[in-house]
Amino acid sequence: MTGIDIRPSGPGDLASIERIYPDAFPEEDLLPLVRQLLTQEPAVLSLVAGAGHEITGHILFTPCGITGSDTAAALLAPLAVARKYQRQGIGTALIAEGLSRLRLAGVTRVYVLGDPAYYGRSGFEPETAISPPYPLPEQWRDAWQSVSLDTSQPPARGTLLLPEPWMQPALWAP
Ligand SMILES: CC(C)(COP(=O)(O)OP(=O)(O)OC[C@H]1O[C@@H](n2cnc3c(N)ncnc32)[C@H](O)[C@@H]1OP(=O)(O)O)[C@@H](O)C(=O)NCCC(=O)NCCS
Repeated sequence: MTGIDIRPSGPGDLASIERIYPDAFPEEDLLPLVRQLLTQEPAVLSLVAGAGHEITGHILFTPCGITGSDTAAALLAPLAVARKYQRQGIGTALIAEGLSRLRLAGVTRVYVLGDPAYYGRSGFEPETAISPPYPLPEQWRDAWQSVSLDTSQPPARGTLLLPEPWMQPALWAP
């Protein structure tokens, strides 16, 4: 798809972002998490894709640390594309733009919990050295992935250190 306009979101985009989530995730209520991250965590990277004034997709990256390491990391989540705009390259473009901005900001590794068939297309690989904040059920093990933004950095070992909105076991369970 050509002409995908991607930009950081502002406070005026909140209502449009809030419309995308129930549409993309009809069975999951991610709005409280998204609202908390957008309003309480100024360091998040929040990008929207838009066609004209219509917002078609949204992605969030939360900067985070790793226990016992000074690695600058980030967690990718959530990512949502409005149903009628899916499969047009918007999700992939949001991921690519986010990774590019994070690389420039000095982030060296980005983590995600999601479908490996989808995120593998953007360079994510199974992650075993760094654990998520809560143990994952066996069936989700392959879903925990990362991508390196700086190959000169050796992979660290430890556990992801995330801000408060992410510290809810329900967000890490099926
Ligand atoms: C998953 C999602 C973000 C993908 O965004 P998108 O803009 O539709 O994806 P893209 O156009 O960049 O990529 C589409 C390709 O990814 C693949 N793909 C899309 N969703 C996929 C999924 N859930 N699992 C595996 N592959 C998927 C398709 O094969 C498609 O390629 P094809 O059209 O050549 O077959 C979007 O469909 C969405 O919001 N879904 C509902 C919410 C969700 O599951 N979010 C993911 C959070 S982990």
